[in-house]
Order: sequence, then structure tokens, then C-alpha cells
Amino acid sequence: MSNRYVIILAAGMGTRMKSKLYKVLQPVAGKAMVDHVVTQVEKIHPDLIETVIGNGAEKVKDLLGDRTCYALQEEQLGTAHAVLQAEKDLGDKDGMTLIVSGDTPLFTADTFQKLFDYHEKQNAAVSILTAHAQDPFGYGRIIRDQKGNVSKVVEQKDASEEEKAIQEINTGVYCFDNKMLFENLHSVNNDNAQGEYYLPDVVSILKSQGEKIVAYQMSDLSESLGVNDRVALSQAEKLMRKRINEQHMRDGVTIVDPENTYIDVDVEIGNDTTIEPNVKIFGKTKIGSDCLIGLGSRIQDSIVEDGVTIISSTLEEAIMHTGSNIGPNSHLRPKADIGKGVHIGNFCEVKNAVIGDRTKVGHLSYVGDATLGTDINVGCGVVFVNYDGVKKFHSTIGDHSFIGSNSNVIAPVEMADHSFIAAGSSVNKDVPFHAMAIARPRQTNKEDYWDKLPLSKSEEWK
Ligand code: UD1
Ligand code: MG
Repeated sequence: MSNRYVIILAAGMGTRMKSKLYKVLQPVAGKAMVDHVVTQVEKIHPDLIETVIGNGAEKVKDLLGDRTCYALQEEQLGTAHAVLQAEKDLGDKDGMTLIVSGDTPLFTADTFQKLFDYHEKQNAAVSILTAHAQDPFGYGRIIRDQKGNVSKVVEQKDASEEEKAIQEINTGVYCFDNKMLFENLHSVNNDNAQGEYYLPDVVSILKSQGEKIVAYQMSDLSESLGVNDRVALSQAEKLMRKRINEQHMRDGVTIVDPENTYIDVDVEIGNDTTIEPNVKIFGKTKIGSDCLIGLGSRIQDSIVEDGVTIISSTLEEAIMHTGSNIGPNSHLRPKADIGKGVHIGNFCEVKNAVIGDRTKVGHLSYVGDATLGTDINVGCGVVFVNYDGVKKFHSTIGDHSFIGSNSNVIAPVEMADHSFIAAGSSVNKDVPFHAMAIARPRQTNKEDYWDKLPLSKSEEWK
């Protein structure tokens, strides 16, 4: 097998996106488009991957790191000019070179592998990956001669009416004989509607030299979607989401309404977990088996262990250990660590707090900057008062403690194990072992208060 190289074109600005973010960095299902391409390319283990960068070069490099080599294209003069920048690393090498754009995020490793294998078998100068498009607008069209062989590619802006009607498109993926590619790139000119050096022009140059040009038409057009504007971006997102959801379902996850379930590409989910509609799971989230992720939940960069129930709640950078539950309508913010079997009920917020196993925070509470032990009961409407306007303070609550409803724990407070706070207290001192803190005004009853009210004299109130 001859050497296999890959060049990824990622230097363009992406003017049609009308965005401050460089096109190849636009995310699809939570991952930059160029990262999708590199991820698939890596799976076929080529001898060298070279990414051509230009616009946003540093940002692309920061993202991809040492996963690829780089060539800098200082001025974006077209796709042929972009490939030419890789000449110093690749120009003199024997082998085959796959070229793919950084704005086609849906291609799979399988397709790249098939194109390499097909190219090698055909012993061609170039194999061009084509697809049949119902609406070919915007793509380069494949022009075939009378014998049906590919003779050239015509860009949308250069195409005649007749050529525009052709539905076989250039997917922007090619496999070239490496030496022939670099020998002929210099002959490409920019005499066309866009004044650019077009990579597909190498195809007609090779053809005129009598070299073998072959096309490999792929069955699944959707893989080849090129993202040039936000309409295509949303289409790519939808197709990617479908692919992701179907994979999870095949792996044993129940997704009640896949059309309305949004899962990023790097999310992991265990089998027998059920995901209800309108759920978004993103970032590097990991979800275990036998969980229920209820209607409308948002889970980002979190770890959810087995048997967890999340009802209509939001998690950000949080951990929920085995058998815990939350919701409806609660919010775990960064560094919320929810122990095994813990119950977090409705309208609760937890931030930077560890909650020990089996502890209950049932309703309307805020737990911030705190360490709670095991088997604690936090009543309704308890607030961990953690902030004085300048600094944050931390409280610690011992195992088997009880915090009565509508209490404030004014940090820093330490409650020993088996201690109590009476309902309605505002506590700002430590509570010793087995003690109960009561910090609220005493109740006084004003006797015969009714008689003093003018209202009590009226007929109506008698
Ligand atoms: C290109 C093809 C077209 C094909 C389509 C498939 C050319 C001339 N046309 O058109 O035949 O149907 O892809 O999606 O190749 N880039 C650079 N430097 C440049 C110009 C572009 O690195 O100077 C990069 C872009 O960042 C992008 C890729 O090359 O990732 C393709 O460029 P783009 O402008 O999107 O080309 P299309 O118009 O989509
Ligand atoms: Mg494009």
C-alpha cells in the first residue's frame, strides 16, 4: 500500500456566514466543523495530516494542537493556492493525497477509506468524490464527456445554464496522486468569475495530459453537505443530530422524540436510559444507565451516574451520583456534587457544594459554597447565605443534621453531626453536637387584639 496523506483546507474566512467566528470553527453538534473533519480523518490513520490555515490561524491551531501539521496561506487566493501551501511538507513525496474541506463536517472515515481504496485500485491520477444533488446550487458541477468520463468541474458562478442543470456535484473531496498534484498545481490560473485559483481545475489539466480521471459517486448525499452559510449550518446540525441520536438508540438508549432531542457529539449515554423530548445534552457530558432525563432538561459538561432521575432541570459542570434525583425546575451550577440517593426537589439551586449521600433538599432552597454530610434534611426555603458583597464564605453541615424550613445559614457556620436548626432561624454561629440552634424572635400573642380593630364593629365582620 502506498503512503496516504491528507490535506484539510481551512484558511477561508467564510464571508457567507456573516460571522465574527471563522467558518471552520463554527460548531455543529458542539464540535467545530474542522474538528469533525480531523476526527474522521484520524480514524483512517494517514501517514501525515496537513491543515492549511489562514483566517483565524492561531485559533484553529489552538483547537487542533498537534493532531495535524500546518501550512499557512497568508492570502486566500483559492483552493488550488491553498493546497500549494502544503508543497514544502508534501511536494516531493510518493503516495496518494486526500483533500477535504474544513467546512464539510459530515463526511465519515468510512467514506475517506473507500475513496483511498478505490483510487488505489483504479490507479488513477485523481479520483473525485461526487454526489447526486436534487438542488445542486452553489456546488461545482461534474462535466462528463460523451463516453461518460469526467472531464472537468465547473463552479456555480462560471456555469452556463446548461451546466447549472447538472445534478452531479463535486463534494470537494478528492484523492490525487501526490506528485502529479503538486506538479500541476502551478499551472492553475485564476481566469474565472471569482478570480480565484480553483483546485478542481487540476482535474481538467490532468485530463488534457491524457491522465486517468475517475469519479466515485457516493450514495448518501447528506454526508457531502458543504456549509457556506447559516442555512446550510442548520441543515448540517440537523443531519449530525439525527446521526448521533440514531447511534444512541442503536446502543440501547430510548429517545422518545429524536426530532426534538439535542445531543452533542462527544456525549456518552448508558443503555436503558430514557430521554424525553426537548432535552439538550451538551459538551463533555457522561450519562449512565437506567437514568430518566425528563422533559426540557439542559445538561452541560456534567457527570450523571446510573439510575439518576432528572426532571425538567438544568445541570452545568455538576456531578450526580448513583440513584440521586432532581426536579422539577432545579438548577445545579458548577461544582455541585450530589451524593448517592440524594433528593433535590423543585426550585432548588446548588453551587460549589458537596451534598452527602441520602441527604434531602426538598423545596425552594439555595445551597452555595457548602459541604453537607449524609442523611441531612434541609427544609423548605433554606438559604445558605454565602456572600457579603465582596467575599464568599463556606459552611459545613454534619451528618444526620436537620435544618428547619425558612432558615438562613449565614456563612461561615459549622454544624456538628446530629445537630438542629429550628425553623425560621437565621444562624451565624456554629452549632455543637446534639444541640439545636434557635435564632428567631420569640412569639408574643396580643390578647383581644380583635376588639381593638374598627373593623370588628362593622356588621359585616361580626
Ligand atoms: C468548493 C469547490 C466546489 C465544491 C464545494 C464543495 C472550489 C473552487 N470549489 O466550493 O467545486 O462543490 O467546495 O463543498 O474548490 N479555502 C482555503 N483557502 C482559500 C479558499 C478556500 O483554505 O483560498 C478553504 C475554505 O476554508 C473551505 C474550503 O477551502 O474550507 C472550500 O472553500 P469554499 O470557499 O467553501 O469553496 P466552495 O465555494 O464551497
Ligand atoms: Mg464550501
